[in-house]
Amino acid sequence: MALMLVTWIPAGIHEKPFPLEGRGQSRPFLLQLKARQRAEAPGRVAAGETLTSFMHNSILVTGGAGFIGSNFILQMVERDTGSIVNLDKLTYAGNLRNLESIASDRRYEFVHGDIGDRDLVHRLLKHHQPGAIVHFAAESHVDRSIRGPDDFIRTNIDGTFALLEETRAYWTALPDQERVRFRFVHVSTDEVYGSLGPDDAPFCESTPYAPNSPYAASKAASDHLVRAYYHTYGLPTLTTNCSNNYGRFQFPEKLIPLMILNARDGKPLPVYGDGQNVRDWLYVDDHCEAIATVLDRGLPGETYNIGGSNEQRNLEIVETICDIVDEMAPRLGASRRGLVTFVKDRPGHDRRYAMDARKIERELGWRPKETFETGIRKTVRWYLENEGWVRDVTSGSYRQWIAAHYSV
Ligand code: NAD
Ligand code: DAU
Repeated sequence: MALMLVTWIPAGIHEKPFPLEGRGQSRPFLLQLKARQRAEAPGRVAAGETLTSFMHNSILVTGGAGFIGSNFILQMVERDTGSIVNLDKLTYAGNLRNLESIASDRRYEFVHGDIGDRDLVHRLLKHHQPGAIVHFAAESHVDRSIRGPDDFIRTNIDGTFALLEETRAYWTALPDQERVRFRFVHVSTDEVYGSLGPDDAPFCESTPYAPNSPYAASKAASDHLVRAYYHTYGLPTLTTNCSNNYGRFQFPEKLIPLMILNARDGKPLPVYGDGQNVRDWLYVDDHCEAIATVLDRGLPGETYNIGGSNEQRNLEIVETICDIVDEMAPRLGASRRGLVTFVKDRPGHDRRYAMDARKIERELGWRPKETFETGIRKTVRWYLENEGWVRDVTSGSYRQWIAAHYSV
């Protein structure tokens, strides 16, 4: 792995003079501010306009060493939208190797730490003075949340609360113009809406929350906190709720990379229950573009559903992967479809997710570019060609998880 620049900001150093007065703004001020945010919010920007109308000199990204966060950072650096500070705790799911290509880029900086460490977040905000925060950091795996919910409560709820509190203090002290332009984008999931029946309409932004797993409940709680900080304090928050992502850098505990690697190696492909559960799959680059669009032109206080309009049953996904792996890495003998093994179902397994993403398309002009047919081929190829990355992430603790989880 290439040497990465790791910044750790000890208390009291690297701090620019920064005005801390201004906390506890009056109610009329907040009402005026909300009115101005609404008036100035670029939600009315014509669909398809380029992402240059709202530039943030510096963006703080949390959880940027994970699957979606690292794809987002690489996309933003490529677009040259300003500098990025990545705050990541580097749990089992965080991998600096994803960001190797920009490790020495002067527009990018990595900070190793926990979003729940308020002192660190306080110093980081003071030092970097970001114009926006994009909050990805979370425990993200449903099965792990069922086995041990503690970390999900700690990071997804307590951590988001800590981040919001420090952001509020920082934002309140900003000069007027910067305060109006500031944005806090909270990256969330379709799982907060619960499960759909086969004929139900897809989830829309006004669908009532009904989270079913500890993961979904922790994300729902964080969404409610984010919403409350907009309504109570006027903090310019925006929430995105997205469907299942796939693409490079996804940790192989999740369905698609797990199946690609097991198929490659001729191992059993563990399909939960009857394999008829439905998910709406979106290529990760499309999700990242949607988040950039919301950051750029979204209206504070709003939520935006993001999805691929690509509902598929798990068994169909696994069979598609088998066929592509058969084609790209032929082996003697029968098709990999024969490796499918039905295993015990996930407790409380949501039957169907589907997203109605018409609001973000109508109001902000975003729609996915990648089809599932092309995106899944790119993804399978990436996993087959990046053996070094796979080897790095599938060592020690990964093997323990697989052994413990699939042995019951
Ligand atoms: P991931 O598990 O791959 O990455 C999470 C990242 O957060 C890791 O780099 C990890 O080290 C970091 N992290 C965890 N706890 C932290 C803490 N306390 N402080 C700082 N960093 C911490 O997750 P992902 O799949 O990239 O998901 C990113 C976000 O998008 C999550 O909020 C998730 O709920 C949401 N989301 C994911 C999907 C999906 O399909 N993967 C879909 C919709 C929404
Ligand atoms: O919907 C968005 C969510 O998608 C995100 O919020 C989560 O962070 C992300 O992990 C993902 O959650 P899922 O539970 O839908 O993803 P996962 O890849 O774990 O499982 C997808 C489907 O495949 C689900 O129905 C369970 C099933 N599955 C999963 C695994 C790991 C299997 O059948 N076998 C498996 O081994």
